[in-house]
Amino acid sequence: MMADKSLHEMFSFTLDMEKDNVVIPVCEDVAVEEAYREEYAFLSEKGIFTGKSGEVYTTLDAARKGVLIFIGLGKEKSVNLEQVRKAGFKAAQELSSNKVASACMMISKLSGLCYRETTKAWVEGMLQSAYTFDKYLAKKKNHTGLEMSFFIKEGKEDKVKSAIAETINLMDAVFLARDLVNEPAISLTPGSLAVIAEKELTSLGVEVEVLGRSSAAELGMAAFLAVAKGSSEEPKVIIMRYKGDKESQRLLGLVGKGVTYDSGGYSLKPKDSMVTMYDDMGGSAAVIGAMKALALNDVKRNVTAVVLATENMVNGEAYKPGDIIGSMAGKTIEILSTDAEGRLTLADALHYIITKEKVDEVVDIATLTGACVVALGEQMSGAFASDDELMKRVKNAAEKSAEPTWQLPLNEEYRELVKGTRSDLKNSGGRWGGAISAAAFLREFTGDTPWVHLDIAGTAYLTAGKGYLPKGATGTGVKTLYNLALETPESGCGCGEKN
Ligand code: BES
Ligand code: MN
Ligand code: ZN
Repeated sequence: MMADKSLHEMFSFTLDMEKDNVVIPVCEDVAVEEAYREEYAFLSEKGIFTGKSGEVYTTLDAARKGVLIFIGLGKEKSVNLEQVRKAGFKAAQELSSNKVASACMMISKLSGLCYRETTKAWVEGMLQSAYTFDKYLAKKKNHTGLEMSFFIKEGKEDKVKSAIAETINLMDAVFLARDLVNEPAISLTPGSLAVIAEKELTSLGVEVEVLGRSSAAELGMAAFLAVAKGSSEEPKVIIMRYKGDKESQRLLGLVGKGVTYDSGGYSLKPKDSMVTMYDDMGGSAAVIGAMKALALNDVKRNVTAVVLATENMVNGEAYKPGDIIGSMAGKTIEILSTDAEGRLTLADALHYIITKEKVDEVVDIATLTGACVVALGEQMSGAFASDDELMKRVKNAAEKSAEPTWQLPLNEEYRELVKGTRSDLKNSGGRWGGAISAAAFLREFTGDTPWVHLDIAGTAYLTAGKGYLPKGATGTGVKTLYNLALETPESGCGCGEKN
């Protein structure tokens, strides 16, 4: 957890000072800066370091009383932003393992990439190296922090300065989401999630409204409350309103699944699948993180987010398989599995945000189905849409964020899977196509409002670290939802350069 020190305190990025230690990004097919040509010629001749992507070589620079860290980027034309992030991550790790707390680096223009986006990727990669969740360890990991100076072409400084600040804020929000997901359910309850959302967002000018069980009942959230019945923790409705653009009427809606613990209920999960089910509020962490990033960066957009937070537990009052429950939208639902609880909470959240908050379009994000993990692994999130244009914007935002998604179908035929016999709907469509039938269930609650559903069951929490992503919580969705809010039909990166 980063609670003791903020990212802004741990990292500084300036654009002027020369430092003793130098990071030298190298493309295998481009001449190295004059000053390091001799060292590089030696390394490449011996085949020690040739600038290939992923290579790193550190050497003492006696003359300058510092270290030189060569970082490989591969062939110049093929370098993309993700490789830059990875190189930044490697560079920061290498600096830290060499106990180096300050360094400088030249940021060069790469084919097809603008200075602004390239700088953001360097900064993000470096910041990615700073995350740990060590609050429950007696011996804390030692994060030293880093003072970086970038050299950049004259005239481009102002463009990258704001990009640096924006990226630190965004990563701060990603780390908040990770902390929320990594926190065990014994301390991260619906109540404490609501308190954290209030604490993190209110001071930034986001309006946060929290409702308890009785207000949820008054609103008619019968599906949500059925899930909550089995828990002694009071369920919470968390509504977050960010008004960054008072002149505009346009309102984006975000909904995040906020099941702070999923035991499966009476359709109890096998014991091993239950261990990590404190991560079942990954969707809510993503929307809270995105709201924080928007507010920190003063983004000129209007966004409202809703989280219906509850535990899915077992007690004498819990809902049961075979029950028929209502919903805020008025549709009745037969419970085939109390473990298909996420879609019940999302059904009411979607109906609420569309009818009461009057959003123009809505994206929900949820650790919804094991079937999605079977289909796409931990590499990609599943995406579903009722609207192609919104899907396109979500895909763009996800790609820009290096949070890959893969669209799965949602044809009319899949509706059959969730049609009820004793009731309007049933909450499980069975094993086959389980990620799709879950989406088909949600579709019944979104009407004509453009809607995209992201299933992050595989990507919110990793069983092993992957590149710059740590084992455990990834904070996936924060960057995508933030970039989605920024996205406009004609938006480029906004730096004014051709690319
Ligand atoms: N929270 C789970 C989905 C999940 C599985 C998240 C693995 C992260 C990792 C969800 O509530 C669930 O239990 N879904 C059921 C649905 C089924 C009963 C129709 C599932 O996927 O098995
Ligand atoms: Mn479940
Ligand atoms: Zn769940």
